[in-house]
Amino acid sequence: MGRRKNNQTSMSFNNIQHQATKIRFNDDDDDEDSSNLDDSIVATEKAIAVDDVTMSEPDVSFVDGGDDDKTSADYYFDSYSHFGIHEIWNSERNRGVDCVSMLILPSVDVFLLILTMQEMLKDVVRTKTYQNVIYQNKFLFKDKVVLDVGAGTGILSLFCAKAGAAHVYAVECSHMANMAKEIVESNGFSNVITVLKGKIEDIELPVAKVDIIISEWMGYFLLFENMLNTVLYTRDKWLVNDGIVLPDKASLYLTAIEDAEYKEDKIEFWNNVYGFDMTCIKKQAMGEPLVDTVDQNQIVTNCQLLKTMDISKMASGDTSFTAPFKLIAERDDYIHALVAYFDVSFTKCHKLMGFSTGPRSRATHWKQTVLYLEDVLTICQGEALSGSMTVAPNKKNPRDIDIMIKYSLNGRRCVASRTQHYRMR
Ligand SMILES: C[S@@+](CC[C@H](N)C(=O)[O-])C[C@H]1O[C@@H](n2cnc3c(N)ncnc32)[C@H](O)[C@@H]1O
Repeated sequence: MGRRKNNQTSMSFNNIQHQATKIRFNDDDDDEDSSNLDDSIVATEKAIAVDDVTMSEPDVSFVDGGDDDKTSADYYFDSYSHFGIHEIWNSERNRGVDCVSMLILPSVDVFLLILTMQEMLKDVVRTKTYQNVIYQNKFLFKDKVVLDVGAGTGILSLFCAKAGAAHVYAVECSHMANMAKEIVESNGFSNVITVLKGKIEDIELPVAKVDIIISEWMGYFLLFENMLNTVLYTRDKWLVNDGIVLPDKASLYLTAIEDAEYKEDKIEFWNNVYGFDMTCIKKQAMGEPLVDTVDQNQIVTNCQLLKTMDISKMASGDTSFTAPFKLIAERDDYIHALVAYFDVSFTKCHKLMGFSTGPRSRATHWKQTVLYLEDVLTICQGEALSGSMTVAPNKKNPRDIDIMIKYSLNGRRCVASRTQHYRMR
């Protein structure tokens, strides 16, 4: 069964970075010793319903064409194949520069930043949800002081200003801050929005506290890039006691898929390459979660909630956790991979609002995260694939994520049990 074709170009800085580093291999010090996984942290959470997402159809202009007729201009619209972009990201990453720092480096082309922002803005599931949350809940914003953490183009600040906020502080560490200033001015909001260029951790605000913190901080697999900690830091430093954080809930889910065709093509390929054993590459490929869209017809089991994070209360350490799972097969099939995705919700709205990045929902630029299993599991309807997932920021680079999966199947046709380690980088 093949993957769903993704109709959006993929150019978020997360995505560019992720794809660019896909071809990197482990350094000597990238072994399991630097893993920050702790079996003892256990979390089980109740599901939250996210049932009220109002949004319009996407209006995404899309540059397409066969590989054969691509020009250099086309490559700018295809981050996967644009060698220049890969070069920039790889060279800076290899120097140990993290993504946020990269966005403020002079060597990073402004055009790359623009593409990144454009992709996020064109993700209508994402942007429309924020717009609806703000416009349909003006009572939250009226006469309130808002802090927009990682403002980018300033889009969320503009929404808040239009909804009646008394003042909005838009903090952005990249060069995009300069453009956000211009955007704010040209749209006549200079008296309401103050753009501050710098890392939120380093910046001084002209006010002691703010009433609302708004941010779009979510990365692949929810936690990749670790911007959540920046939001938690901001909350603790600047938010009034009864203030609100938007969004305030984020939940990570897990399911299992049949994915023979893709696994064969991308992973098993290395078993025999023109008669040679290249399985050392296969090991590396298996250890890197793949960000891709999954066809909902590939789903073999139920989808299970792993962890809900309450952004208004949680501590930064809560981004490390172990969660048990029990995935029940809904049909006889084979399982090749586990798939993780997240939902976010805004529970302070008049009616609960939010969006899902799951395979049964409309595609977003976050897609889903696929973790291939070493075994091919033959599962019968009603049987359970049980285990646990442990997630923690990598010790050396907290923007990377270490994931450990333990699974076992004790079925009629298949018995298997294994522990696998992955790193998202
Ligand atoms: C996912 S983008 C969201 C941009 C914009 N809010 C939107 O919704 O289109 C996150 C932004 O946060 C910025 N950022 C990340 N960490 C930051 C920090 N510590 N301080 C200030 N800005 C940060 C990045 O440069 C990036 O522009």
